[in-house]
Amino acid sequence: MEKKKISIIGSTGSIGTQALEVIEKLKDKFEILALAGGSNTELLKKQAEKFKPKYICHNSTSQLTVSGAKILHGSDGLEEICSNKENDIILVACSGKIGLKPTLTAIKNNINIALANKETLVMAGDIVMSEARKHGVKILPVDSEHSAIHQCIKDINFVDKLIITASGGPFLHKTIDDIKNATVEEALHHPRWNMGKKITVDSATLMNKGLEIIEAHHLFGFDYDDIEVVIHPQSIVHSAVEYKDGSVIAQLGLPSMHIPIQYAITYPERLEGIKSKSFSFAEIARLDFEKPDFEKFPCIKLAYHAGRTGGTSTVCLNAANEEAVFAFLDGKIKLYDIYTIVEKMMSSHKVIQNPTIDEIFSVDAAIREQTKNIIKQMI
Ligand SMILES: NC(=O)c1ccc[n+]([C@@H]2O[C@H](COP(=O)([O-])OP(=O)(O)OC[C@H]3O[C@@H](n4cnc5c(N)ncnc54)[C@H](OP(=O)(O)O)[C@@H]3O)[C@@H](O)[C@H]2O)c1
Repeated sequence: MEKKKISIIGSTGSIGTQALEVIEKLKDKFEILALAGGSNTELLKKQAEKFKPKYICHNSTSQLTVSGAKILHGSDGLEEICSNKENDIILVACSGKIGLKPTLTAIKNNINIALANKETLVMAGDIVMSEARKHGVKILPVDSEHSAIHQCIKDINFVDKLIITASGGPFLHKTIDDIKNATVEEALHHPRWNMGKKITVDSATLMNKGLEIIEAHHLFGFDYDDIEVVIHPQSIVHSAVEYKDGSVIAQLGLPSMHIPIQYAITYPERLEGIKSKSFSFAEIARLDFEKPDFEKFPCIKLAYHAGRTGGTSTVCLNAANEEAVFAFLDGKIKLYDIYTIVEKMMSSHKVIQNPTIDEIFSVDAAIREQTKNIIKQMI
C-alpha cells in the first residue's frame, strides 16, 4: 500500500514533536512531505535529517541548509507547502493565529487537515467549515477533547449535548488571590499536560476551555447551550456525548496526546501505533467531576459570550487573549489581567457579523494593536 504523504506545520512544537514520534512508529504508513517550524532551526534541521522531507520551512533570520530538501521561508513558504497537492493530509500544529491562512490554503487545494490549532476555528470557524464542506475536505480534530467527541459520536442527530472535560489547570483549588498573584512559573506548571507556553497559560486561566467550546461549536455544529464544561482533574475522561435517550458515551484513556494525534492522521483507520501502558480502572481508582467556578475562571464566560455573539466577537476574544498571554509571559502584566484586558476589548468591540476573511484579518490586527496599547498604559 502507498504511504500517506503528510506535512506538519509546527513540527518543532509540543504537538509537532509528538506527531513525529507517532509517525516514526508508523513509518511504513507515512512519508513526510514537508516540515515547517518557527525559529528553532536547530531542531528543525535534526528532524529534517531524520525524516528526509522534500520541503522545509522556517521563520528565522538564520540560514538553514539540509541536503536534498528545498528550503522555504515564512508565510510564502507555508503557502507553497499547503498548496502542494502531493499532500494527503496536513497537520496544523502551530500555535495562535499563524494557523488560519495555511489551513484555508490546504482546504482550497482539497487536502485533508488534522487540526491542533484551535485558534483557526475560533477566528474563522464559519468560513473554514463552509470551505471544508465545499471542497469535501475532512477537518480531523487533534485536541484530545474534540478527538474524544469525534470518537463518541455515532449518530449526530441523536446527540443532545456535548460534555467537554477540563483538568482545571494548576490553580483549580487555589483562591482568587492566589490566581491574581500567580507567577509565570506557577502558571506554566500544568499538573497533567506538557504543552507549549501559550496553551499552558490558557489552561491556567481556563481560556483554553473557552476556545475549545467555540472549536466544538464549529466542528460538530452544536449550539452553545448544548456544550457543557465539567472539571475532571484526573484527565482520564477526555470528553463525552449525551444521547437523547439519556445514554452517555465517553472516551477514556491515559493522558497522552499521541492517541488523538494518531487517531486524526490515520482516520478512518485505527492503528496500534504508540501505546505506552495498558489502561487499568483499578490503578486509576477514582474519577472526580465538579462544576467549573466561573467567578474564579471568568474567561470561560467570556468565551461563551463571544461564541453566542458570533461574527468578529471571537476574533476579538482570540487576538486580545493572545496578546495578553504574551504580555503575561514577558512579565508585563499579572495572570488575572488577561481576563480584565480581554473583557475590556470585547466590551468596546463593534462586532461585524458574517465577516469576510479580509475583515477577520483586519479586525485581528486592529485588536492586537489596541490590546498592546492598553498593556503599555498598564505598565
Ligand atoms: N500541546 C498540546 O498538548 C496541545 C493539545 C491540544 C491542542 N493544542 C494546540 O496545538 C497548537 C500547538 O500547540 P503546542 O503546544 O504544540 O505549541 P508549541 O509547543 O508552542 O509549538 C508551536 C509550533 O509552532 C511553530 N511556529 C511558530 N511560528 C511559526 C511560523 N511562523 N511558521 C510555522 N511554524 C511556526 C513553532 O516553531 P518554533 O518552536 O521553531 O518557533 C512550534 O513548532 C495550539 O494551537 C494549541 O492550542 C496543543
